[in-house]
Amino acid sequence: MNDDQLINQTADFVKAKFEGEGSGHDWWHMYRVWQLSKTIAADEKAADMLVVELAALLHDIADWKFHDGDLEAGPKAARDWLESQNADEATIVAVETIIRKVSFKGAGESTPMSSPEGRIVQDADRLDALGAIGIARTFAYGGSKGRPLYDPGVKPESHADFAAYSSSAGPTINHFYEKLLLLKARMNTDTGKRLAEQRHRYLENFLDEFYAEWDGER
Ligand code: ADP
Ligand code: NI
Repeated sequence: MNDDQLINQTADFVKAKFEGEGSGHDWWHMYRVWQLSKTIAADEKAADMLVVELAALLHDIADWKFHDGDLEAGPKAARDWLESQNADEATIVAVETIIRKVSFKGAGESTPMSSPEGRIVQDADRLDALGAIGIARTFAYGGSKGRPLYDPGVKPESHADFAAYSSSAGPTINHFYEKLLLLKARMNTDTGKRLAEQRHRYLENFLDEFYAEWDGER
């Protein structure tokens, strides 16, 4: 199988698994991260595009958020799929490593990426948490967990580690402070930083409007 065939088979596999998912981790999230990864990679030198595209497509294949916090579920599911397609071992290891590291894990946890391919996919995944789409996904996720939109009495937290972050269950607006607004400072690539600036501003404007409407000011 050539690289394009493997990428297309992987896209079909992910699409079949995630079509219709309702927490913002649906096929179209994987699709957007895949497309954004290609956009970012075009400006970065020497990225292995097979690894970039496979990691983008498979990065949420078994996300810890839906597997009892198990950080190994994703890398394992990706390996199983790629082995079934006879991908070479070096590619599998590179993809697994990216999936293991890609996720945001709380304000106090750093999430460094060791490869250029990983830095690209991580930026693409983070951009899809920002801007108009990021807002839509965040409320979809909160709704899927039955959480309130906002509660003025519950303040956002700064999570010291992954255990605190992964067990938090606050109102959805708090997630803006606990993750979304922290992402701009953590982007890896120049293209990622530029795109994040614009999407970050959109979040800030949304929050201004949200509070004004909440208090009946407009
Ligand atoms: P990451 O790997 O960084 O967690 P994902 O692609 O798995 O990124 O998606 C994370 C997205 O899921 C967030 O950007 C947000 O939209 C949603 N999400 C995750 N946790 C929460 C939460 N506690 N409240 C609201 N939305 C959340
Ligand atoms: Ni994702």
